[in-house]
Amino acid sequence: MSKIASTRPVDGDFASTHIISMEQFEAPDIMRVVEGAADMEAMLKDKGKIDILKNHILIAMMEQDSSRTGGSFVSAMESLGGSGRIPDLGRSSANKGEDFLHSVVTYATQSDVLVIRSDKDGSVTEAAEYLEMIENEMLAHGNRTLGTRIINAGDGKNEHPSQTFVDLTTMYRHFGHLSGLRLTLVGAAAEYRAAHSLAIGASRFGMTVNIVTPDVSPMPDKYLDILTDRGCPVTTDTALMPFVAESDVIYCMRPAMENVNDDARKAAILKAYEGYTITPEVMQEAPEGTIVMHPMPINREIARGFDTDPRARYFDQMAVGIPVRMEMLVSMFDKPPQDLLPA
Ligand code: CP
Repeated sequence: MSKIASTRPVDGDFASTHIISMEQFEAPDIMRVVEGAADMEAMLKDKGKIDILKNHILIAMMEQDSSRTGGSFVSAMESLGGSGRIPDLGRSSANKGEDFLHSVVTYATQSDVLVIRSDKDGSVTEAAEYLEMIENEMLAHGNRTLGTRIINAGDGKNEHPSQTFVDLTTMYRHFGHLSGLRLTLVGAAAEYRAAHSLAIGASRFGMTVNIVTPDVSPMPDKYLDILTDRGCPVTTDTALMPFVAESDVIYCMRPAMENVNDDARKAAILKAYEGYTITPEVMQEAPEGTIVMHPMPINREIARGFDTDPRARYFDQMAVGIPVRMEMLVSMFDKPPQDLLPA
């Protein structure tokens, strides 16, 4: 049997599965990454680089554009002594007719970790299941098992779990806890996969979740149900201002136009954003201590004049992406770095 099962709950054992959905992680698993990222950051500061994952190779197969996720996974692997690359998919054998699943197996033969971003909902689950099937077939033929770990870096309108580890780590660093935080998500939620994974993450910590969306792009029922089934107070609305004073975290969502095909729908979403821009004036209504987060890139959701406000945490959020992804990688290979950390 393949060493890696496609999508099982992690339950303390990161080494046994791919990372596809936040549903695989309960609170202790999430806290392992959140707290481990601090060790990674200390290590980076002390030593710059450490050979925990020497000779390990990461490939980020990014079918949709990215400036952060792919690059920070490569930096994370290189900081752990391994190597990483982002292939130019515009020059790949997809141009010669190779389909997505065969490309996945191809890059899996070249790597220990395969980070995948795709425009199709559920495609990374499909990739993991297909790879597992091919590995089992190869084992039956006496070939070596690949053992490549897959990480979902965003699959269409579905999920983006590594972003949630980044988001929760950012919140934990600011508030010192995650339990019971008041989280307000603002923007077009139907297409925004990072918010779907974050809703699941928030459900593990009993957060109060306000969801401000245009009527045309609500949060899918699946994520509302997960929150309410786990006892989280949830409010949905179309207006932002009533929630500004009720938030510990205001989390902005970009209109994810790459995941919208219909022009009328695009126009309706963009029109709704006119009421969703975070400005210094809007933030005058917020309690002291409220922070503004955004996974980035930012379009029109936050006024440029807010970038240097101490409550703007999106650049810190972006920077923590590397130590968080280092901890994810170390956990997936079950390599506790304690003996390598500074005293
Ligand atoms: N946050 C995020 O996923 O950014 P990129 O699209 O640049 O990777």
